[in-house]
Amino acid sequence: MNAYPAIKIEQYDEINAKPVLKWAGGKGMLLPQIREHLPNKLKFGAVKRYIEPFVGGGAVFFDLIKNYTFEDAYLFDVNPELIVLYNVIKNDVEDLIKELSAISEGYFRIDPSERDAFYYAYRDLYNENSKNIDANQYSRDYIARAAFTIFLNRTCFNGLYRVNSKGFFNVPVGKYKNPRILDEDNLREVSKALQCATIIQTDFSKVLDFVNDDTFVYYDPPYRPINETSFKSYAVGDFDDNEQKRLKDIFAKADSCGALQMLSNSDPTNYNPEDMFFDDLYGNYNIHRIWAKRMINSDPNGRNGVRELLITNY
Ligand SMILES: C[S@@+](CC[C@H](N)C(=O)[O-])C[C@H]1O[C@@H](n2cnc3c(N)ncnc32)[C@H](O)[C@@H]1O
Repeated sequence: MNAYPAIKIEQYDEINAKPVLKWAGGKGMLLPQIREHLPNKLKFGAVKRYIEPFVGGGAVFFDLIKNYTFEDAYLFDVNPELIVLYNVIKNDVEDLIKELSAISEGYFRIDPSERDAFYYAYRDLYNENSKNIDANQYSRDYIARAAFTIFLNRTCFNGLYRVNSKGFFNVPVGKYKNPRILDEDNLREVSKALQCATIIQTDFSKVLDFVNDDTFVYYDPPYRPINETSFKSYAVGDFDDNEQKRLKDIFAKADSCGALQMLSNSDPTNYNPEDMFFDDLYGNYNIHRIWAKRMINSDPNGRNGVRELLITNY
């Protein structure tokens, strides 16, 4: 049990947002353990800035913003489609709802036997237009693209995001009878949640431009694969052990700026008790082992839990 009771900071306007996208490695199922390990300074409302450099589906940000207020937040990801989508939701949510509603109506109006072709037609259009994206240069032209991103995510196989070597989205259609393509209420809540956030397509090292001693940073990088088949490809380029080491260097630098930090990763000792990769790398910090269920490429014989790491510098 924590030494101090958690204090819930009341929002001026209550926010009840949840992730818009299904996202590989999404932290929805780990929220109870993450909440348990949050720093007391955050629970007392004394953290002013939140940074999440691998935001993905944003499960942790949306959960925190329900309970705590920040003066500002910085959300990063290298995936340009996520950044385009979140900035559209932040700036133009009502127009996005109109676009998505038109796609959703079109999808449900046609015969179910034609819906796979509908999906592939949208996927082709999405890829044809992918060249002209500069995710950090906001444009209202991105509203339609953001609607496509949600539509494809809600109807593709397992909500995966995967691109080929040319950067084209290549996930096949999923098998859904009645996919929830449009959730208007949630999009409006997400828009409220994002008002305090600056959302940038960038590498995680950008954290160092913004950390100070009133900051809490949560890192959820692509996990180090614990076996050969682990899912790991979010974009062109791999997140290998050198990337994990580069991330640790950023963690150490942000630590010396006084930021409170939490980092998730896989636990190699699940399969090889002698693999001390993270125990060695983060030897100066606190390493908590928690239980998690994995949804993507998890144990096919019943999806049993595996241990994961939550590393904190407090
Ligand atoms: C495990 S996912 C994050 C999942 C997220 N916590 C959620 O709940 O949905 C990892 C994310 O890191 C992003 N990423 C990969 N390499 C990156 C880098 N060098 N800098 C920033 N983001 C990166 C991927 O695009 C992916 O969205």
